[in-house]
Amino acid sequence: MRFSGKVAIVTGGAGGVGRALVRTLTREGAAVMVADLSADGCRALVEEIESAGVGVVAFVAGDVQDRAYCERVVAETAERFGGVDILFNNAGIIPRGTILETSDDMWQAALGVNLTAMFYLCRAAIPAMKERGGGAIVNTASAWGVYPGPGHIAYCTSKGAVASFTKSLGRDHAPDGIRVNAVCPHEINTPMLRSGFERRGLDPQTAVDELNRTVPLGHIAEPEEIADVMVFLASDEARYVAGETVEVTGAKPVGS
Ligand SMILES: NC(=O)c1ccc[n+]([C@@H]2O[C@H](COP(=O)([O-])OP(=O)(O)OC[C@H]3O[C@@H](n4cnc5c(N)ncnc54)[C@H](O)[C@@H]3O)[C@@H](O)[C@H]2O)c1
Repeated sequence: MRFSGKVAIVTGGAGGVGRALVRTLTREGAAVMVADLSADGCRALVEEIESAGVGVVAFVAGDVQDRAYCERVVAETAERFGGVDILFNNAGIIPRGTILETSDDMWQAALGVNLTAMFYLCRAAIPAMKERGGGAIVNTASAWGVYPGPGHIAYCTSKGAVASFTKSLGRDHAPDGIRVNAVCPHEINTPMLRSGFERRGLDPQTAVDELNRTVPLGHIAEPEEIADVMVFLASDEARYVAGETVEVTGAKPVGS
């Protein structure tokens, strides 16, 4: 029970990696606030956890592009669970295209969901963490943020910015006992990846099988394999890890 008495927020909590995070954190004793655009997804996850009787969990659904919503997530978490110790900034979208294929809306959404939401959420959560004497923030960047892949200009730019944001914030708030780190995963077997294949008219399972052969460890990441690293970064076992971006790739380089 690494998180007994701790309170965590998980954005994108109803998605592939988010659900794995919420399940592990609640199993290990944390009270968890699930924040996601999908109210139905949040409700289903909360019902699953409550019916299994293995954790304390609640949700507040909304759009992380909205500053007022981000502030409400932090305020409602503190009100309901007595404080905030851990923030997982995990919500993300992946607009696809070169610059010539990227509309203003796609660009703004990539930056809004993947980057600016972190700014709003961290700015709201850090004072609450300071009140508790410290905390941990784990951001989801991407291998494509640090080694941009082709044809995803808005996504790669937003995730590259998440990496710098994490290092800056990590430096500034380590003296407050707040450790800020990011994971940079390569491909993960989640709805984000599979829906991209579907949109391109491909069978997602065949496409995943093919991708698996490109990874030296033998398969693209399952959501739990990324969530486990993120949970480690939030735990006391990572007490000397701060301001870092951790690549989690199964040894697969970008571009192959
Ligand atoms: N799947 C991959 O291959 C991959 C690779 C590297 C990094 N990532 C990153 O991992 C994180 C988790 O992604 P995933 O693979 O679990 O994808 P996913 O699509 O399964 O989950 C993302 C979740 O974010 C939520 N979300 C999207 N826009 C939102 C908004 N405006 N406000 C609130 N919630 C919103 C969605 O409803 C969804 O539940 C993302 O930041 C993603 O960029 C994914």
